[in-house]
Amino acid sequence: MRRIALGAALSFAATLAGAEPTVPPRRSKALLAWLKAGTYRASYTAEPDVHASTAGAHGANVRTYYSPTLTEDLRAGRTAFRKGATMVKELYFGGHEQVVGYSVLTKVRRRSGLTGRGWLFYETVDGTGRGALFGRGLAVCTGCHRLGVDYLRSAFRP
Ligand code: HEC
Repeated sequence: MRRIALGAALSFAATLAGAEPTVPPRRSKALLAWLKAGTYRASYTAEPDVHASTAGAHGANVRTYYSPTLTEDLRAGRTAFRKGATMVKELYFGGHEQVVGYSVLTKVRRRSGLTGRGWLFYETVDGTGRGALFGRGLAVCTGCHRLGVDYLRSAFRP
């Protein structure tokens, strides 16, 4: 509850500052702070429940959220998403209540490009940001994600 209220307050502040609150910051530290504030929960479309991941790379239990841009794109049947399309994945590992880490994809260019450099990838498995994986077209992520619909792997459709 508190996280959601804080998230709403932060998005309001960002709106006043003229920023786009539904698109995460592009720097690793600011991105982690944005994730921890839970800002995305106010406007993103959530998967119905925490569920078992099929990936083998994201731990046991996960829940994914789609940004408004991505939600609109999927509803419109687009298979190449617009700049700003973002997925936030909460990593729960063995539990169902406590968010332990985060994986994020956010589209920073109109075109994804052959190696996925149109997407910025981020992952912190312990939520501290230490040793976080971060970068555009990050090879450890694109190997699997290039098999998706414009790098989206989840079957969830809002
Ligand atoms: C071994 C393959 C694999 C690797 C490596 C991988 N992913 Fe994934 N990822 C998946 C699959 C499969 C899903 C679909 C949901 C699920 O089953 O967990 C997924 C889902 C996601 C999602 C939710 C949106 C979506 O595409 O469904 C995000 C965000 C994400 N991964 C980020 C990352 C990041 C960041 C990295 C690199 C640090 C990464 N992934 C590496 C397989 C992988």
